[in-house]
Parts: sequence; C-alpha cells; structure tokens
Amino acid sequence: MSFIESLNGIFSKKGDTYVGIDIGSSSIKTVQLKKEKGRILLETYGEVALGPYQDPENGVAGQLTNLEINKLTEALKNLLEQANVTAKNALISVSSATSLIFILKVPSLAQRELAGVVQNEARKYIPVPLTEVSLDWWIIPDKEIYGEDEVFGSEKKKDVDVLVAAVRNEVVERYNIVSQELAKFSSTRYEIETFSAVRGSFKHELSPVMMLDFGASGVRLSIVEHGVVRKFRAISRGSAYLTSSLQKSLEMEFIEAEKIKKEVGLNKNHPHSEAYNIIQTGVNYIFSEIQNVIFDFEKEYKKPISKIILTGGGARLPQFREQLESKYNITTVFSDPFSKAMSPDFLGAVLEDAGPEFAVAVGLALQGVE
Ligand SMILES: Nc1ncnc2c1ncn2[C@@H]1O[C@H](COP(=O)(O)OP(=O)(O)OP(=O)(O)O)[C@@H](O)[C@H]1O
Ligand SMILES: [Mg+2]
Repeated sequence: MSFIESLNGIFSKKGDTYVGIDIGSSSIKTVQLKKEKGRILLETYGEVALGPYQDPENGVAGQLTNLEINKLTEALKNLLEQANVTAKNALISVSSATSLIFILKVPSLAQRELAGVVQNEARKYIPVPLTEVSLDWWIIPDKEIYGEDEVFGSEKKKDVDVLVAAVRNEVVERYNIVSQELAKFSSTRYEIETFSAVRGSFKHELSPVMMLDFGASGVRLSIVEHGVVRKFRAISRGSAYLTSSLQKSLEMEFIEAEKIKKEVGLNKNHPHSEAYNIIQTGVNYIFSEIQNVIFDFEKEYKKPISKIILTGGGARLPQFREQLESKYNITTVFSDPFSKAMSPDFLGAVLEDAGPEFAVAVGLALQGVE
C-alpha cells in the first residue's frame, strides 16, 4: 500500500531542487522542494510501505522491516518514479537506531584539544570500535546567559556540554550503494533524522521544546532550545510494538491489529475495551519515559518545557496528543512541516494531516534549499 501525490510544474533549474529521503523502518518518505525567487515550493512528495518488499505475499504497511540492499533500492526506485522526483541533489536521513546521540561534559579547552577529548570520552558510549563510526560534535551554548563567562574570565573554568553524534559507517556505505544503484543523483548527503526533524518542525521557538518522534520501531525524545538538542533519549518500543501486542493478545493478523490500533487508540470509552487496555498499557510505558526526560531536564536546567511537538505516524494514535497535553499540562501540537513550503491550496488539509510523518523528509529537503 502506498500513496503518492504528484504535483504539477516540475520545470525547474535542477540545481535549486532537493529531495529529502527518510528511510524509516516501516516506510520510506520523500519530499522534493525547489527554491525559486527566494520562495520554497513543494514540488512533490510520496510514501511507500516497506512491508510488501520484505515479504511480497504477507507483508503489510506498518510492519517493521530490515531490507536487503536490492529490495531497499527497488522500493526507493519505485517511490521516486511514482512521485516523479526529478531532483539531482539528495539528502538521506540516518535513523536514530543506527546512530548515537549523547552529551558529554568536558573541561573547556581549546578547539584543537577538544577533538582528542571527545574521541576519548566517546569510546565509553560507543559499543563498536571508533574506526567503524563517523563522529560529529558541537559545543552546546552555555545554560546561563551567554558571554557571562568572559566577564569572570580565567579563574572560573567551567565544563562545557558537547553534543556528540556518531553514525555507523556501514549505514552510510549501505545508502551510498543504494544511491549509486539508482544512478539518479549527482550529490548525496546524510543527516541524522533528529536534526532533520528539528529543521522540519521548528518555527521560532526560543524556550525549551520537546520533540517526540513516535515511529514504528521506537520513540525518540529530544529537548531542543535555541535550535540546539540538549537532551536525547530513545525508547526501543514504537507503534509497531502496540500492533504486535494487540496481535498476540487478541490472536489476530497484524493487518487487523493495525486497523484496531488506529481506530481504538487511547479512547477510554471505546466499546472494544480489551484493545483499549492493551494500547494504553503500551503507551503508559512511553509516558513514564517522557516523564523521566522532562524531570531530568527541568531539574538540570531549572526551566520548564514550553511545548511538545509531535512527529512520526504513531503520534496520530487517537487521543495520544490529548492525553499527553493533559498529563503534563504542556501545549502539545503536531508538527506541520509542509507549512514551510508553498503548495496548492487544495492540498492544505491533506498536507497538514500527513505532516507529522513527513517532518524528517521535509527537514532534509529544507537543508538543501535553505
Ligand atoms: N492514525 C494512526 N494511529 C495510530 N498509529 C498510526 C496512525 N497512522 C500511522 N500510524 C503508525 O505509525 C507508524 C509509522 O510511522 P512512521 O512512518 O513515522 O514510522 P517509521 O519512520 O517507518 O519508523 P521509525 O522512525 O521508527 O523507523 C506505524 O506503526 C503506523 O501503524
Ligand atoms: Mg521515522
């Protein structure tokens, strides 16, 4: 099952056109944006479920997959064709499951020395030899008023927080092979999905915001302030876990369980109370992790989280947004990434609805056009 929307007007200078490709565990999402006279235009977007590529007979949408390279290439090729993607510049996301994001506290040092310290410290977090990963890091701006440090000068050398991102080389190599096989792009860049989702979802929020990506394979929580990720936590149970729980407890096919999940969700009053209980139990586990992250952040930074932005298809679970909002008393909204690009009016409602699922793909394409 896949849905594709192809828009008209693809006569563009290819150089200003970028395609974002979000390879998720259950589906691939793609978005093509074009920059024209300073405006960003949505040219096309589309999604393909990977289940049927994993298992042509019984594979279904929503199912977790782990595709061989040739299957993944085939799925992406079909998607790009159906969505009429013409861009020569591709940006592909690297999933949080195959990357690591963590924050190190290190003494404030010269930039040169910092590289060594980060490498050394990172060893403690990364379970594979450092030769197998690519490391990237950014100094997180100080918690207090910026620049205050300089006033007090040398006597008060504080630790600095460094955000470190590590990506397994084999993941990038795998995507490089897919990209070469496709022979469609003249340039291919990569980005960890969390950073793409932030770009796709944020407007001008200054106070701390929690981003919650409810995917099929897991839930990712990031706390972002001034556009910088300050905390990150991954929960390895996502929306497919809810479906599997229903499937096992109610002894039914995955496809049926998937339907019930989307229909019952967290509706206390739904007549199918058994299904409701199973889903609520699964989600409560996620709530407790959210609670921990909020608590840790507010304790360390002494300021409240002002908003929660939801991404990922799983966030569309009925009553999820409402429960979250009332539980923590924090304004909770769906990401609306398509609002960052111009698109035909008649697509407005469709794009708003699909927004949370496409936040990463839009964010990737935005990196190109911005
Ligand atoms: N209306 C809905 N209610 C509940 N769940 C939904 C709804 N729509 C989609 N989902 C779920 O969202 C999940 C897919 O979301 P998404 O496309 O964000 O995941 P993914 O990117 O493939 O996974 P991951 O990011 O974990 O690799 C599926 O598990 C699907 O069942
Ligand atoms: Mg995803």
